[in-house]
Amino acid sequence: MSSEDRRLVAVVTGANRGIGKAIVRRLLQQTTVPLIIYLTARSVERGQLTFDELRREQLRWPAEEPTQQLPNELRFHQLDVSDLDSIHTFIEYLTLMHGEQSVDILINNAGGVVHQPTTNDDDDEGGPARVVRTCDAKTAYQIVHMNYFTAVNMTSLMLPRLRPNGRVVFMVTALAHLGIFSGDLPKVLVSDELNLNGLHIIENGFISAVGKGTYSAYGFPPMPFAVAKAGLIAYARMLARVFASDPRGLLFAAVCPGYVRTDMTGPYAPLTPDQGAETPVYVALTDAKRLRRHNGGLWKQLRPLKW
Ligand SMILES: NC(=O)c1ccc[n+]([C@@H]2O[C@H](COP(=O)([O-])OP(=O)(O)OC[C@H]3O[C@@H](n4cnc5c(N)ncnc54)[C@H](OP(=O)(O)O)[C@@H]3O)[C@@H](O)[C@H]2O)c1
Repeated sequence: MSSEDRRLVAVVTGANRGIGKAIVRRLLQQTTVPLIIYLTARSVERGQLTFDELRREQLRWPAEEPTQQLPNELRFHQLDVSDLDSIHTFIEYLTLMHGEQSVDILINNAGGVVHQPTTNDDDDEGGPARVVRTCDAKTAYQIVHMNYFTAVNMTSLMLPRLRPNGRVVFMVTALAHLGIFSGDLPKVLVSDELNLNGLHIIENGFISAVGKGTYSAYGFPPMPFAVAKAGLIAYARMLARVFASDPRGLLFAAVCPGYVRTDMTGPYAPLTPDQGAETPVYVALTDAKRLRRHNGGLWKQLRPLKW
């Protein structure tokens, strides 16, 4: 067995900035689990810049022992999670490099909100993006697709590639708690009968109800970001149930990073990206037994959280 074979393979999506970049940095700096880390980004240019920056940081560390072999290896690959061809190309590359079952840790970090300039904020380059709370059909469609459908597609295609004890992390938000829904929706979202088709119907139903102005009659809040992330929380629960008898012992978790200062939230959020990366990295690396006790569950501040 080569030394590379003993290292776990971790993939982080949307890792060129914000929390994704901080997750990669933390994975790179930890020394408990030897890793090959794939920093992925949809833009080759932006991804390569971040890769170069983190690689330079890694080479400076630890300065006292420059001859010590670096435990973790960073690699970059282009990956646009909204593009099925891009996902397939990446999976083919992983198969070539690491075999049919090639991934131990998948962190679905890519996502976000649609930047809506206001009259005071007409520079798309410099103005802080806002978390969208208004709800029009186009915005609902974009946000549900960039947060829910992309992560579900990415995960569905990666599931056969996960190694024994492989784990999948979804970045969600505490805004997506069940209390924002009304009518039958809270019960349906936690039901053991819910399948992927049903979940897609709920997410598409939200988009369509926003278009017709009937979302509240169906029990949805006017918050596309929270509805999309609630879909991912329900998906993590569903995967834990569906894969319960899979011999690989796969693990799934949805993680709230907290309110983190990134391009998505602007400069007033209280947490740094590094603080936002703490719980997803903890869940990605923690003891499998602890994670298995809460398989498919929600996590915040290093602890399981009731949905
Ligand atoms: N910040 C918070 O307070 C907060 C709170 C709760 C949850 N979250 C979640 O945590 C995750 C990271 O948030 P963040 O604040 O770091 O966001 P961010 O600063 O806006 O960064 C989003 C990242 O996702 C990437 N991305 C978007 N669409 C992509 C696609 N189709 N393919 C590949 N990459 C794509 C972006 O790439 P480009 O640079 O190419 O655009 C960027 O790297 C998101 O899922 C977000 O919803 C954040």
